[in-house]
Amino acid sequence: MAVAAVVMLVVSPRLYSENGAMASGIFYDPGAPTFLLKKSALDSTGIPFTSHASDKPFGSYLQQTLDFGPFKELFDAISAASNATIHSRGEAHITVITPPEFDLVLKPGGVTIEEIESIATANGIQNARLMPVCLGRFNGTLPDPAHSTDKAGFLLYSLVVADVYSDLLTIRRKIFKLYGEKGGQGALFQPEAFWPHVTIGYDRQDLFIEDGIYKGSNYCYAPIRTTS
Ligand SMILES: *[C@@H]1O[C@H](CO)[C@@H](O)[C@H](O)[C@H]1NC(C)=O
Ligand SMILES: *[C@@H]1O[C@H](CO)[C@@H](O)[C@H](O)[C@H]1NC(C)=O
Repeated sequence: MAVAAVVMLVVSPRLYSENGAMASGIFYDPGAPTFLLKKSALDSTGIPFTSHASDKPFGSYLQQTLDFGPFKELFDAISAASNATIHSRGEAHITVITPPEFDLVLKPGGVTIEEIESIATANGIQNARLMPVCLGRFNGTLPDPAHSTDKAGFLLYSLVVADVYSDLLTIRRKIFKLYGEKGGQGALFQPEAFWPHVTIGYDRQDLFIEDGIYKGSNYCYAPIRTTS
């Protein structure tokens, strides 16, 4: 019985990731180890919603707040496996509306951060049902370094996440609806242009879509196995 339970624990996440790999074209680095993550890491039901509303430029955004504990363990394992020095943010979250989406599009379109937060909390942002996809890594130079402060290489790790029931996408679609009702230009906000992930660590700074970095399953580097 005990043996069977252990085998299930080890085998089923592996099957999940291999099936997922076939279905969605995930390519892992052949030399990458499998990293472990607590099964409960993406369950934030018991964690209060945190507001990120600010008058400062690019200070307002929407996030699902996660417990840092399991992500600290993942960070430590990645640090130990890599010879590079990487830094953690000391917290874990999934950005649902980015600072540029708010400052450059939604805010000028008349959508307030309070309206965004009220859509998010009414739709249970902290209860969003998510699954880990893989550990993503970028280790290289940016395609257009003129937009960055540095032309040298960057190293970045994130947990790529699947919004399996579109819980977070639904929030983005409702924000889009409000934006449209206020006369916003549809071309400027794409609810589906959304690659949920948890930033785990980086050598110098985090990188974003604006830098040319897409954090979907295209970004996968190493498999993630969930543990209880
Ligand atoms: C890390 O450094 C050690 C000791 O310098 C070396 O043996 C090992 O090959 C390095 N690992 C990687 C992944 O570069
Ligand atoms: C990142 O790439 C550089 C250059 O190819 C390589 O020397 C370095 O070992 C890589 N870093 C990691 C953590 O793999």
